[in-house]
Amino acid sequence: MNKLQDWPEPIVRVQSLSDSGMPIIPERYVKPPLERPSINSTISSDVNIPIVDLAGLYGDDHALRATILDQISVACREWGFFQVINHGVSPKLMDRARELWRQFFNLPMEVKQAYANTPKTYEGYGSRLGVKKGAILDWSDYYFLHYLPLALKDYKKWPTIPSDCREVLDEYGKQLVELCGRLMKVLSINLGLGEEQLQNALGGENVGVCLRVNFYPKCPQPDLTLGLSSHSDPGGMTLLLPDNHVPGLQVRKDKNWITVKPAPHAFIVNIGDQIQVLSNATYKSVEHRVIVNSSKDRVSLAFFYNPKSDIPIEPMKELVTPDRPPLYQAMTFDEYRLFIRTRGPSGKSQVESLKSPR
Ligand code: OGA
Ligand code: NI
Repeated sequence: MNKLQDWPEPIVRVQSLSDSGMPIIPERYVKPPLERPSINSTISSDVNIPIVDLAGLYGDDHALRATILDQISVACREWGFFQVINHGVSPKLMDRARELWRQFFNLPMEVKQAYANTPKTYEGYGSRLGVKKGAILDWSDYYFLHYLPLALKDYKKWPTIPSDCREVLDEYGKQLVELCGRLMKVLSINLGLGEEQLQNALGGENVGVCLRVNFYPKCPQPDLTLGLSSHSDPGGMTLLLPDNHVPGLQVRKDKNWITVKPAPHAFIVNIGDQIQVLSNATYKSVEHRVIVNSSKDRVSLAFFYNPKSDIPIEPMKELVTPDRPPLYQAMTFDEYRLFIRTRGPSGKSQVESLKSPR
């Protein structure tokens, strides 16, 4: 029954493995050959995901605004991923948020262990996603916490060190929720809907919002493993604040893996499975993964903007036509997220499994 109550095996902190200086990684982290980073990886190409400058989105220049909307429309259709700059979130706040998490992960292990999480809610300090016994694991640790709904926000599950943690994280959450709201309007208009409709389909004010901070320790054999296995994000939309020094995020473009080159103080925006479903696959969530390296740790903050968790999510009726029947069956996000929490990251198999029988 209670298969989400506890981990199937004792938790090993990847950071401890890395710090031990062992020259080879344990077998549990060795990926099958076809999943290893060298396969179809285009690490040093000039290709990058689109960068969209949001300055002008609210100005009087209607032509400029139309251009920005169009750039986002193309990015959503062709990539499912883009970066935004001049997005309105304070660059100082972004730097401080990333820095405080670096400080947190650099605390002594005993301090961090006080926040150890369980699969029941995933909140706190964790080292695996999924509870499949014997699973091959990813080379990363993380910290997970809720912002919204307020009923799930629990300061007891947030770190208290560094001392400005709560204050910085609260402000970070507030500014990112605003940015997500603005982007929802853009996506809604781009889908040919009224400006509020997409947000309303996610539950209006009652969206769910959470943060997953990823810590990818340096790895003695980066060619054999991944920091985070290929997956699409299960929720609505994600705003990722990447490491400012160390690349690692790769996005699937057709058969290739493109390494994202972050612009200074940009957020990386990506479409999650729930917007794929709501948009009846006009927009698709795109697979991505993280590679690690042997010389530097990497930190990233993934901010997830999700539907209210107990409402059915299905293709919006405006986007269903005789030519384009509903591609997915309705499911609540509570049900949907159990899948990834049980099985761990597994490409796009989850959203594929929602396809309507025909
Ligand atoms: C995630 C994710 C990418 C990164 O947390 O879902 O895709 O660069 N993170 O850490
Ligand atoms: Ni992701």
